[in-house]
Amino acid sequence: MREKIVAGNWKMNTNWPEAKELVSGILSQENRISCSLIIFPPYTYLQKISDLLSNSKVKVGAQNCSEHEKGAFTGEVSSSMLKSIGMSHCLIGHSERREYFNESDEQLLLKIKNCLNNNITPIFCCGEKLAERENNSHFEVIKNQVSKVLFQLNEDDFKKIIIAYEPVWAIGTGKTATAEQAQEIHHYIRTLIKEKYSEDISNQISILYGGSCKPSNAKELFAQADIDGGLIGGASLIANDFIQIAESF
Ligand code: PGA
Repeated sequence: MREKIVAGNWKMNTNWPEAKELVSGILSQENRISCSLIIFPPYTYLQKISDLLSNSKVKVGAQNCSEHEKGAFTGEVSSSMLKSIGMSHCLIGHSERREYFNESDEQLLLKIKNCLNNNITPIFCCGEKLAERENNSHFEVIKNQVSKVLFQLNEDDFKKIIIAYEPVWAIGTGKTATAEQAQEIHHYIRTLIKEKYSEDISNQISILYGGSCKPSNAKELFAQADIDGGLIGGASLIANDFIQIAESF
């Protein structure tokens, strides 16, 4: 049985009072949830939120980390720093970081290795842009993203990864991939894993869908054979919506 996960990527949203309120909204309803819940608040509140959640099953992760271990990299945060305040997960290669911060495959691989060295589970994001879907190169794009980064890992490391398929055209646009479109890519990713590693491993890896996932469409998406949950942006900022999505399995 693969781990079912609903993860909330808060991005650069909330101030501290809003963040606290969001956390207490989630906390007050978490007993209804049977899947794993992970939230990704901004760096500034990670430690405080992790303290608020110390008796909860909700896990906390970071939205990014440096590809460097430590040193003179002003403004950066390392994975060992994140581990030292109890972070369990880290998002790697979100399309916004690839696009606005020019993160390369080489950097993403280093970030993943640093996370794994510090026992932080990376959630690796991949997904095609609208033009790439329209010119039918989406399979090729996904294959490249996964092969150039994840498939550089040895089997033992690869087994520790979570993948999120997030079509860029569906992120923050209100345009969700249909359940069929999402399932098709999730199945494709699983096939690539099977070819590179093994069928066993391909059946163990959780693959989340992200991109305008909300209470109204989560059920249909999560019912697909190869979709193991969601990486939620906008809807994760509303506690009731986030919880409702987590109840959609
Ligand atoms: P969205 O974002 O749910 O607001 O589309 C998803 C994401 O970027 O992870």
